Amino acid sequence: MTTTDEAPPPRALVTGGAGFIGSRLVRALLAKGMRVWVLDNLLPQVHGPDARFPEVPGDVTWRRGDVRDAAALRDIVRESRPDLVFHLAADTGTGQSLDLVARYCDVNVMGTAHLIEAMREAALTAPRIVLTATRAVYGEGAYLDAAGGLAVPPARAIEDMAAGRFAPVLPEGPATRPIPTPETCPPRPASIYASSKLMQEHMLQQCAAAAGWSLAILRFQNVYGPGQSLRNPYTGVLSVFIETLLRGGDLNIYEDGEIVRDFVFVDDVVRSLVMAAEAERLDDAPINIGTGRGVSIQEVARMLARETGRDPSTCMRVTGTFRPGDVRHAVADTARARALLGWSPRVSVEEGIAALAAWARADRAEAPAGAGP
Ligand SMILES: NC(=O)c1ccc[n+]([C@@H]2O[C@H](COP(=O)([O-])OP(=O)(O)OC[C@H]3O[C@@H](n4cnc5c(N)ncnc54)[C@H](O)[C@@H]3O)[C@@H](O)[C@H]2O)c1
Repeated sequence: MTTTDEAPPPRALVTGGAGFIGSRLVRALLAKGMRVWVLDNLLPQVHGPDARFPEVPGDVTWRRGDVRDAAALRDIVRESRPDLVFHLAADTGTGQSLDLVARYCDVNVMGTAHLIEAMREAALTAPRIVLTATRAVYGEGAYLDAAGGLAVPPARAIEDMAAGRFAPVLPEGPATRPIPTPETCPPRPASIYASSKLMQEHMLQQCAAAAGWSLAILRFQNVYGPGQSLRNPYTGVLSVFIETLLRGGDLNIYEDGEIVRDFVFVDDVVRSLVMAAEAERLDDAPINIGTGRGVSIQEVARMLARETGRDPSTCMRVTGTFRPGDVRHAVADTARARALLGWSPRVSVEEGIAALAAWARADRAEAPAGAGP
């Protein structure tokens, strides 16, 4: 028997869909045949003063609007009636958030509140909401204590860092060995950005449970790759490094160069978002998304230098400079992502850095001021 009754394509709303991760997510959703709506205010800090939405073939509606504007959210939710909501719009600078406390709370917390209210008002039937959360909620990464138990050291003392003692210390003695951080580690956010992102998780967990929505919370490690904003100085050490290297500047490597991060390639992150949208079995507890491999800042700087044709022995200096509140070690335990979503990263940091450098060189040749969406 043949049937002509095809199910209509899923409808997806992406807040922050013009950004680094969002613009690639939109393309991935369109490639899956979805109908997509985007709400983004094209924040000048990210996109520059004259930004426009990207030209993307497919069934996508771009709306310039702010998540702080309850009416804008109400309108786009009413119009799109989404099956899937991806909530990406956010202010994202850890350091900047300490100077702009009200703005960060307004965008990240109140923006989420307006989104929830708009979804409730529209009485959507069983939507799924996917939140782009962050590993920043953990603060310092997990360590083993002297007895071999999991422990999370508190923020490092400024006096210790000033004296060149960078290794985290546990109240009961030295931390022995850093390990990948599992989701069971209690959050200890060290910035307003991290606190406001944690608040998003709590709000969505509470409201999704009450409204019968399904929820996926993906806590990303450091996301990088082609398309990341090279003009926004507040996000992403790799953006700052590559921009500096390409204009012939030298890199100031903080602490003793041994700060460790887990760099996850943007296409792997987008795949995790799509898999979270499609997963049949899901719970509302956070899921780490990272590679599980730690790379020191010194190591990644060396890779970038080589990829941009600079000599690592002359273009980088380890200076002992430090930033209060910085974490020493951040690597994801990705067991839950593997088990629940069947997700694992595909792009190695070497491949990813090469792709980032190639894109940044081309982008600079085209538009010296930096990247658009
Ligand atoms: N990039 C990372 O390393 C990383 C790591 C962890 C979590 N995240 C999360 O992923 C999401 C996307 O991050 P990204 O790296 O693509 O950042 P991005 O800055 O490139 O994208 C964010 C987008 O949101 C838009 N936006 C900002 N404020 C807005 C507002 N008030 N109203 C409407 N739109 C607004 C911006 O114009 C931008 O297009 C964020 O929620 C961020 O917290 C990113």
